[in-house]
Amino acid sequence: MILGIETSCDETAAALVTEDGEVRASVVSSQADLHARYGGVVPEVASRRHLELVKPVISEALADASATLDDVDRVAVTQGPGLIGALLVGLSVAKALAWSRHLPLVGVDHLDGHVASLYLQPDALEPPFLCLLASGGHTLLLDVRSHTEREVLGTTRDDAAGEAFDKGARLLGLGYPGGREIDRLAREGDPEAYDFPVARVDGLDFSFSGLKTALLYAVRDLSAEELDTRRADLAASYQRAIVRALVGRVREAAERVGREQIAIVGGVAANSELRAALPDAAAAPLSLCTDNAAMIASAARFTESIPYPRYLGIDAYSSR
Ligand code: KG4
Ligand code: ZN
Repeated sequence: MILGIETSCDETAAALVTEDGEVRASVVSSQADLHARYGGVVPEVASRRHLELVKPVISEALADASATLDDVDRVAVTQGPGLIGALLVGLSVAKALAWSRHLPLVGVDHLDGHVASLYLQPDALEPPFLCLLASGGHTLLLDVRSHTEREVLGTTRDDAAGEAFDKGARLLGLGYPGGREIDRLAREGDPEAYDFPVARVDGLDFSFSGLKTALLYAVRDLSAEELDTRRADLAASYQRAIVRALVGRVREAAERVGREQIAIVGGVAANSELRAALPDAAAAPLSLCTDNAAMIASAARFTESIPYPRYLGIDAYSSR
């Protein structure tokens, strides 16, 4: 089995996955509550919390899989991109575990991890496919040609889609993380109540900063009581604009590269309106869309291992 460890942002996660992509255990401990009062992730607070949680989370994953470290053949860990202090906690633990047992180690790119969430059983997707990766830090259109080859077709010029959700939620006075809150509130609102702009950018890129400004102006024009009565409409209209932008680009990209299969991954792929707007798209179960370690172990199946003890010198990276 592969032991996966993920600590790139505010989720401490460990998972056990077989070489065939069967998830034997996946434990995710979210620190969201800890960061909520700051309205976002505080990097130093995240690192310290990872330090406290990483060992119990790994133990829980082993217990859930009825396994011990004797059953682990390789250790997979997120090497980047992400918060550097947070990444270092997972990487150090992974190195120590692998080294003490003379196991190979796999350094996994977090974005490859999100794509590899689609390669897990029971509904493993086979490349090629066109993939939208939309998370808190990234918005990418990828042409996934094989398990190991992908090309970036488009990306965001400013905010990531998840960031647009989080910043919008903040403007609306909703909790953190914002995507799930907007998703929930939007169900009670009218998505046509406000006509928010969908930015037009060249090529297959995205832009969400104009939309965020439009929401800011709409909120600014309302009194506190008015905001209370219009909050659901604002959330629904704002979400509709983001989903429209994403879906439009996905369809365009699929046509341009001639891909029939499309897929969505990353935290924003958990959005109910996006999933409904792309009924033909493959998507992982909700728990595997947001950050988790099963996807990291899954990516390791297609990434070369570094033999013992050469990995002791590898480093985390905050961006590519
Ligand atoms: O992939 P992820 O867990 O972490 C990163 O790698 O960034 O994505 C987190 C992002 C956050 O911005 C969060 O607001 C968003 O995914 N998100 C959602 C939903 N659930 C999480 N956005 C829209 N609708 C959701 N249901
Ligand atoms: Zn992620």
